[in-house]
Amino acid sequence: MKNLPLSKEEVTRLVDAAQAARENSYSPYSKFKVGAAVLTSEGEIFKGTNVENASYGLTVCAERNAIFAAVSAGHRRFRALALITQKIPGVAFGSPCGACRQVMSEFMPPATPVYIAVLNGKKRTVYCKKLSELMPFAFTKFEEK
Ligand code: THU
Repeated sequence: MKNLPLSKEEVTRLVDAAQAARENSYSPYSKFKVGAAVLTSEGEIFKGTNVENASYGLTVCAERNAIFAAVSAGHRRFRALALITQKIPGVAFGSPCGACRQVMSEFMPPATPVYIAVLNGKKRTVYCKKLSELMPFAFTKFEEK
């Protein structure tokens, strides 16, 4: 079954959830807080934030923590993912890292919308990119069922 596009309200709800998760960011080393949320095909939202470690390489990004939380609860199909960061000088938005794009490609069809929100003071701007734009030619065995 194909996923339907999200309504404006659903996008707001998902970005709100990502923003709430960002408040829990454990990022004492980078001081860069990231929040993420995924919407399952069943309509549930799972949140994640970045969790850093004194051994820096052990850090896990917000996006992967959100996806892994959903998968751990038994979900494998997603309608959308949202992430949110502060404004990064010189770029329009904080783009997901390559590792997270690969993990997204495992569980999300290429047409899945990825909502990328930017917090600039009190202003929140939301961009939307298809996963296929972020991760063309992904290595994946994904099949639409
Ligand atoms: N980070 C994320 O959580 N998601 C991304 O897509 C990029 C980077 C985190 C990892 C680290 O805690 C901090 O942002 C700075 O790299």
